[in-house]
Amino acid sequence: MNKIETYNKSVYVFRDGQPKLLHIRNYTSSDIEQLINLQRECFPPPYPADLLWNREQLLLHIERFPTGALCAEIDGQIVGSLTAMMTTFDPNHMSHSWAEMTDDGNIGTHEKNGDTLYVVDISVSPSARGLGLGKQMLQATYELVVALKLQRLLGGGRMPGYGAVQHEVSPEHYVDDVLHGKRRDPVIGFLLHCGRTPVAVLPDYLDDEESGNYALLMEWRNPFLQTSGT
Ligand SMILES: CC(C)(COP(=O)(O)OP(=O)(O)OC[C@H]1O[C@@H](n2cnc3c(N)ncnc32)[C@H](O)[C@@H]1OP(=O)(O)O)[C@@H](O)C(=O)NCCC(=O)NCCS
Repeated sequence: MNKIETYNKSVYVFRDGQPKLLHIRNYTSSDIEQLINLQRECFPPPYPADLLWNREQLLLHIERFPTGALCAEIDGQIVGSLTAMMTTFDPNHMSHSWAEMTDDGNIGTHEKNGDTLYVVDISVSPSARGLGLGKQMLQATYELVVALKLQRLLGGGRMPGYGAVQHEVSPEHYVDDVLHGKRRDPVIGFLLHCGRTPVAVLPDYLDDEESGNYALLMEWRNPFLQTSGT
């Protein structure tokens, strides 16, 4: 595996037609206060407050896999963050919860020789949504997948539109409806727009009332490591 230490990129995004310089870079211990405030903004109740990042967890991300600790900054303010770790994908044992995969968000399960980059968390401030920041941060992870010569990016996408209709349709049916344009889901829709494709529906993924505790496992495969027909 290649050794990659840091990620740093500057690109322009557009707010009301006006260019804004966006920096995607690794977060460090001096960013922690801003990251905690961002989490509160991005995951309001009913999302459980104990699932928001605390200082200790953020320090563990920086210590255990600094390359996967990413933030998006505009005008010196952190307006987005994404945390990733590495794992080994086993197609015969796909079922997992967020807590099992990520060691309750402490990423003690990070496998430095794994074949898969796993998205632990992604969020963008409500004040900066729709500018392409989420997509730029995912783009950064795709670049890491290629640079680290990994097989894929993987992550469980919340499906916050599902909770409200869970007594009417199964989660698989709901996802199928989203894929056929019959329903819209804000997170699955976002991930599809960002190039992710569905792998499996995971029950009991997260204590996430809006999603009926389900998630859709979605991947992005390293195009350089695929053989035709796979
Ligand atoms: C999901 C989230 C990260 C999206 O971030 P964002 O910066 O607003 O998204 P972007 O502006 O980068 O959008 C990228 C693409 O997704 C699309 N998209 C964004 N939100 C969408 C939505 N609600 N429904 C459908 N598509 C959506 C955009 O139209 C864009 O598509 P395009 O590039 O083809 O034009 C943000 O809404 C968020 O932080 N939500 C709360 C936290 C959360 O639920 N995180 C996910 C945990 S799994």
